[in-house]
Order: sequence, then C-alpha cells, then structure tokens
Amino acid sequence: DPAQALAGASVLLTAGPTREAIDPVRYVGNRSSGKMGYALAAALARAGARVTLISGPVGLPCPAGVDRVPVASAAEMHAAVMARVAECDLFIAAAAVADYRPAAARSAKLKKHAESLTLELVRNPDILAEVAARPDKPFTVGFAAETEAVEAQAREKLERKGLDMIAANHVGGAVGGLEADDNALLVLWPGGRRALVLMPKPALATALVEVIAERYAASTSD
Ligand code: C5P
Repeated sequence: DPAQALAGASVLLTAGPTREAIDPVRYVGNRSSGKMGYALAAALARAGARVTLISGPVGLPCPAGVDRVPVASAAEMHAAVMARVAECDLFIAAAAVADYRPAAARSAKLKKHAESLTLELVRNPDILAEVAARPDKPFTVGFAAETEAVEAQAREKLERKGLDMIAANHVGGAVGGLEADDNALLVLWPGGRRALVLMPKPALATALVEVIAERYAASTSD
C-alpha cells in the first residue's frame, strides 16, 4: 500500500545551499532557499517517515517531527551523510551542493591590493552519486535543475548516477525554481515519468512524496 509505504521508514534528506569558505569572512555560495527540501522533510514526516534533515545554512525553522543536522560546506554535508547513510531506507538529495570549493581556504582575511584576483576552485565530492554507487544503497532520489532540454538531461543524470528517481525542474525561466514559492517538477524513474504542475512548494512536496511512496513500495515488493 503506497499510502503506508513510508510509515516507519528512515529517510536521510539534504537541503539548502552549501557555503565554501574563501577566508574567515567570505564564501562562495548559491541561491538555494531550502524551501523545497524543507517542504519535503515536512511532507515525509507527515507520511510517517523518520526524517533526518542534513541542512545547509537557510533561514527556515526545522519542520515538526524532523531531526535536523546543520552543516555549512559540501565537505561537512558529505561527512554528515556518510556517517548516517548505512542506516537509512531512502536518501533524497535536495541540496544545492557547490560543485567546487576554493582550493585553499585562507586562515586570514584576504586584503584588497591587486586590481584583479583569481580564485582557484577544486571539485567537491558528488554526495548523491557516491550514495547511489554503494552496494547497500538506499532508495535514492536526486534533483536536477536545468535551463534547457530538461527531460533529456534529467534522464541522462538518472541513468549515469544510477538513481531510483529524479525530480527535474526548469530554472532560469519566469516562474518556479530556486528561490520561488511555487515550482513544477518532472519526475522520472527507470521506465516511467510523471509531470507535477506548477503549485506552491508545500503542495508540490506532498505530491512528490506520493510518487516517492509508490515507487519505494514497488521497489521493496520485488
Ligand atoms: O549533477 P548535478 O549537480 O546537476 O546533480 C544534482 C543532484 O545531485 C541534486 O540532487 C544534488 O543534491 C546532488 N548533488 C550532490 N552532491 C554534489 C552535487 C550534486 O549530492 N556535489
């Protein structure tokens, strides 16, 4: 029964942006508000799941019944996820993790002298891909934010990272996306798809949790 599939299930969820330190007072960041991830955490808790929310810095209260672990950088988020992933049934990556971080965070504040400044960036670990590659992997859900060819790129990401499901949104347009209150999602899984139309993020999160529950139930019944 999909409606009951998440009752008692243990869910690890990432949300929000990460901050990559340049020096003690500055960072490289992004415009994720955390709204979608937090709405998802709340909807999962309402569905009866035990939710651990690994959260980057956001200005949102922790949803009722959710256990929050605050982190700042991608490295901290990675460590917080890896310490808990073996015990979870589902992993949902809703965070906007920085793909790169400054090669070396300076211990003293950077002074302005030169007319130009070059920051060297190095790749961060892909938390979602690492979780999906585990032999004992949980049911794994990723997000994709694309500005073009949304379905094709999301399908490619689903397959390349070995995910059980991906929720794709179109960003950079007039409506929906990163900071907005409303959003629409195209949900893909191996062999299927469902379009969730533009609606407020809390309602969208409830609809997405229903799709996740259906697919999770199907994955545990075979
Ligand atoms: O490859 P791309 O960054 O577009 O994939 C986005 C998905 O991967 C999101 O679910 C995001 O939370 C996750 N991700 C991650 N760790 C990274 C980069 C992305 O978990 N370093």
